[in-house]
Amino acid sequence: MNKISVYVAAEFNIAEAARQAKLMASVLGFSSVQSYYIATAASELAANVFIHADGGMFEVSALTDRPGLELVVSDHGPGIADIEKALQDGYSTAGGLGCGLPGVQRLMDEMDIDSQPGQGTVVRARKWL
Ligand SMILES: Nc1ncnc2c1ncn2[C@@H]1O[C@H](COP(=O)(O)OP(=O)(O)O)[C@@H](O)[C@H]1O
Ligand SMILES: [Mg+2]
Repeated sequence: MNKISVYVAAEFNIAEAARQAKLMASVLGFSSVQSYYIATAASELAANVFIHADGGMFEVSALTDRPGLELVVSDHGPGIADIEKALQDGYSTAGGLGCGLPGVQRLMDEMDIDSQPGQGTVVRARKWL
């Protein structure tokens, strides 16, 4: 099991994405605390595709070259108009808490966002063992 995908189309899929991320993290040897951080990041990313993009694909995979784990969410939603703002604590276009993306950035070691207005968004976040 080096990659698990969960299509996030309904709210309960968010919990499934978090569960799969935690399972993968534990199997790879992340500590319990680190596994919960990864599950929290997975939950925030999956929630974003559900809330802001009307659904999308969530994937968690094992990285081998340098041992670690990667979360990828991709969607064909509206895109993120201003990525810099979206990374600020408290910024939300949907009346949310606005701490999802900045939280993921802190919980994981690396995060990249690729987003085109009107086309969709891909967010990748990695954590090294
Ligand atoms: N997948 C996405 N598609 C479109 N916009 C997004 C997506 N993920 C995040 N955003 C934008 O980035 C903002 C900040 O995200 P986040 O920090 O998770 O806050 P919140 O989800 O509480 O609004 C969102 O309000 C939204 O405008
Ligand atoms: Mg969010």
